[in-house]
Amino acid sequence: MRIGTPLSSGATRVMLLGAGELGKEVIISLQRLGVEVIAVDRYPDAPGHQVAHRAHVINMADGAALRALVEKERPHILVPEIEAIATDMLADIERDKLAEVIPVARATQLTMNREGIRRLAAETLELPTSRYAFATNLIELKEAIDGGIGYPCLIKPVMSSSGKGQSMVIGPDDVAQAWEYAMSGARVNQARIIVEEMINFDYEITQLTVRAVGDSGKVETFFCEPIGHVQVKGDYVESWQPQTMSQKALNRSREIAKSITDNLGGRGIFGVELFVKSDQVWFSEVSPRPHDTGMVTLITQNQNEFELHARAILGLPVSVALRATGASAVIYGGVDAKGIAYEGVDEALRVPQSDLRLFGKPEAFTRRRMGVALANGATTNEARERAKLVASKIRPIKV
Ligand SMILES: Nc1ncnc2c1ncn2[C@@H]1O[C@H](COP(=O)(O)OP(=O)(O)OP(=O)(O)O)[C@@H](O)[C@H]1O
Ligand SMILES: [Mg+2]
Repeated sequence: MRIGTPLSSGATRVMLLGAGELGKEVIISLQRLGVEVIAVDRYPDAPGHQVAHRAHVINMADGAALRALVEKERPHILVPEIEAIATDMLADIERDKLAEVIPVARATQLTMNREGIRRLAAETLELPTSRYAFATNLIELKEAIDGGIGYPCLIKPVMSSSGKGQSMVIGPDDVAQAWEYAMSGARVNQARIIVEEMINFDYEITQLTVRAVGDSGKVETFFCEPIGHVQVKGDYVESWQPQTMSQKALNRSREIAKSITDNLGGRGIFGVELFVKSDQVWFSEVSPRPHDTGMVTLITQNQNEFELHARAILGLPVSVALRATGASAVIYGGVDAKGIAYEGVDEALRVPQSDLRLFGKPEAFTRRRMGVALANGATTNEARERAKLVASKIRPIKV
């Protein structure tokens, strides 16, 4: 494996499709290895734009625009950081050997639509999932619920993320409203939803799974310690590592993670989301990229999830070793304004064994994720308390 000099004709060029807070950390990791990085996002001055060699603003759902940019920049490797990309164009780019797509184009196609990944997991691989059905109108939706999904259940647009358009339905009176809400939250104007049985889990985890070249010279699978997390309205607010689990549940989680990531293939990190009740484990979904709950690894692992992704992408060896117990807590915008400031950073960092990231997003919204608080502790509970304390001391203000 060889890496050229950035900005020279021999440079190793990587293009990030999506330059949010997760992309920004991947870019920093690549920069440290002397890679030339091109960051792409839908708006200017995105977090990753601020740390890349070059920055571009395009609509990544526009296949022609995406291809034109790839032809102009000629990256060796294309790294999708978001779901909303013209993934059919990624498949064309891969087929035409214009660039290597991480982990592979098919994985980005399958995971951008809940239907693709759910059918693969439940029907092809026969992994345990919640009961589910798809519907394209309110009548089909009601039939699906009455036909076996039952109440309570969750309704989600097939193409959406971060909980957008997602709601829980307690009884028949809520169904119409949940349908309307799903239609308003869908990423594309497509009237298709998944309705899922509600799993009454004890806790949920992200099993970060890395496919990287091992000592054998072939791609092998490596598992990070499980990450526990709390979600509010489909969006992560807190995570910690390691999550205590029974050996049976841990083994089962890793079997499931191996099965789905083997099928998706390629190199890189995956965030496999699983629900756990006692020794029973259900597959929920998978991101073929770093996972937001995995930001905790910025303070817990020798190689955090972004470094692992960077190394795996480049064909370098990885170590998934845990260094210390830790936790993360999200820092929200708190206000709707551009160019905000953060007060209390000094007080926040006086919390023992703490750290933070402020993403540098140009515009804040009340519930937009603007930063993340991090802390170590003797136990995950101590780390969680510290991380939440750090987050609470940051005061975003309009200037
Ligand atoms: N069938 C289910 N049973 C119980 N809880 C669920 C179910 N589906 C979703 N949830 C809860 O909602 C959260 C978000 O769901 P999901 O991961 O499907 O949405 P998402 O929009 O893809 O979110 P993200 O992009 O943040 O991962 C889950 O982490 C879990 O807490
Ligand atoms: Mg999820």
